[in-house]
Amino acid sequence: GITRHYTFNIVYKNITRLCNTRSVVTVNGELPGPRLVARVGDRVVVKVVNHVSYNVSIHWHGVRQLRTCWADGPAYVTQCPIKNGQSYTYNFTITGQRGTLLWHAHISWLRSSIYGPIIILPSLNESYPFEKPYKEVPILLGEWFNVDPEAVIAQALRTGGGPNVSDAYTINGLPGPFYNCSSPDTFKLKVKPGKTYLLRLINAALNEELFFSIANHTLTVVEADAVYVKPFDTDTLLITPGQTTNVLLKTKPHFPNATFLMATRPYFTGRGTFDNTSTAGILAYKRPSSVRHKKIPTFKPTLPPINSTSFVANFTRKFRSLNNRNFTATVPQTVDRRFFFTVGLGTHPCDQNTTCQGPNGTKFAASVNNISFPLPTVPLLQSYFFGRSNGVFTSDFPQNPLVPFNYTGTPPNNTMVTNGTKALVLKFNTSVELVLQDTSILGAESHPLHLHGFNFFIVGQGFGNYDPNKDPKSFNLVDPVERNTAGVPAGGWIAIRFLADNPGVWLMHCHLDVHTSWGLRMAWVVLNGPQQNQKLPPPPSDLPQC
Ligand code: C2O
Ligand code: CU
Repeated sequence: GITRHYTFNIVYKNITRLCNTRSVVTVNGELPGPRLVARVGDRVVVKVVNHVSYNVSIHWHGVRQLRTCWADGPAYVTQCPIKNGQSYTYNFTITGQRGTLLWHAHISWLRSSIYGPIIILPSLNESYPFEKPYKEVPILLGEWFNVDPEAVIAQALRTGGGPNVSDAYTINGLPGPFYNCSSPDTFKLKVKPGKTYLLRLINAALNEELFFSIANHTLTVVEADAVYVKPFDTDTLLITPGQTTNVLLKTKPHFPNATFLMATRPYFTGRGTFDNTSTAGILAYKRPSSVRHKKIPTFKPTLPPINSTSFVANFTRKFRSLNNRNFTATVPQTVDRRFFFTVGLGTHPCDQNTTCQGPNGTKFAASVNNISFPLPTVPLLQSYFFGRSNGVFTSDFPQNPLVPFNYTGTPPNNTMVTNGTKALVLKFNTSVELVLQDTSILGAESHPLHLHGFNFFIVGQGFGNYDPNKDPKSFNLVDPVERNTAGVPAGGWIAIRFLADNPGVWLMHCHLDVHTSWGLRMAWVVLNGPQQNQKLPPPPSDLPQC
């Protein structure tokens, strides 16, 4: 492989959407941010220079970061944030992954405007395991706020209530024709007839799982989270925040007498509000003549109802590993350690003598095994690496829920969760099986769980209570999909397996930023192995200090 150098300048940029102009924190003034392109085996070196008053850090979401935990990026987990005037150079190698990932800010809610695609091409002498596309197009789904999202989350955490939602969903940064004052800001994909396009779909939204569809066109899924899958056709996809999906789009053989909408809108399970807004872009066949399409296309896709948990369950079951020795790993057949985690919302008591805006005057919280995880002020990785974890974190994260769990769909009377910056320690090369069970503490809700530093295999999923005697019998240990982010279904569970072969401190959290902010996160510490190439090297000299 070669080394590819990038410079990311974090700068303010005045950006106008929905007739509203705001000073936005961006990378190099771009929204979405610049493309990072590499071939498998390449080294990527990104110098991040912070010119704004917010502290920043960047995460290379889904990149394995084998023995480069120092480059992973979550603030206060693997590094102190990069302050104004400082810089930090992220240095990592792309190992074994092919397809699409994303990079994004990993501090507070700055990912709302600091995100972009990671495009991983096969090595030079290697082709795709599917038809070679005529063109490749990244499509990033996001959210636009008319106000500063940092103020939105700050206020929510102060009052304990739910944060205001964004003002528009976006495709490649553009809200599309259905919002007030937004039709000029519509993404248009110009295509030729009779060609195959590879769409690199990325959900970079803060808080929304999203359906995506293109009217009158079938999409063929070929890759998920930078791992090839057995191809399958679908009209509609669900992509959770943090997930990426490559699809092939075959255009019609002749110029159709129409243009087509591509549209995206949320899949909601938790909050009571009904939100039917959607963003759209246009699929336009490029005519040689000067025919222009100015109107909204007549062909619109049909998206599933907003709370279509059954569609989502059927869709996610279609993902299967390609099982190709050249490209894909195999699922661990044996397990060294088993864990059962509940994930869900809950509450914290309000500070004395005040009323908060969460349920029954409390503050919203979220937890894993009833533990809500506050970020420390010293990064976990430094404190672990230099043997100074005292007062930063403890290693007693519970292996099972603290409160016995029964999923009945009816909330328990005590919704309180406990604070704790707690990790679970794994020996090098431990084979882990983890069942993630949604709780109904404040209603059933889907949670897209993301694990840093590893891909995991989804060996099972189901609704209701996970049954340790019955459910493992139906686990797929043959061709389960390998991902870095997976939805724990509303009112259900998933079982995942991964091999702890990457030393360091690795965050696991819900990729809905509001739930992360409320504490739905925990950390794994993976110890060094005995060999030299199984140890985490010391940090780079420019690692930021707090
Ligand atoms: Cu894409 Cu910890 O995040
Ligand atoms: Cu969540």
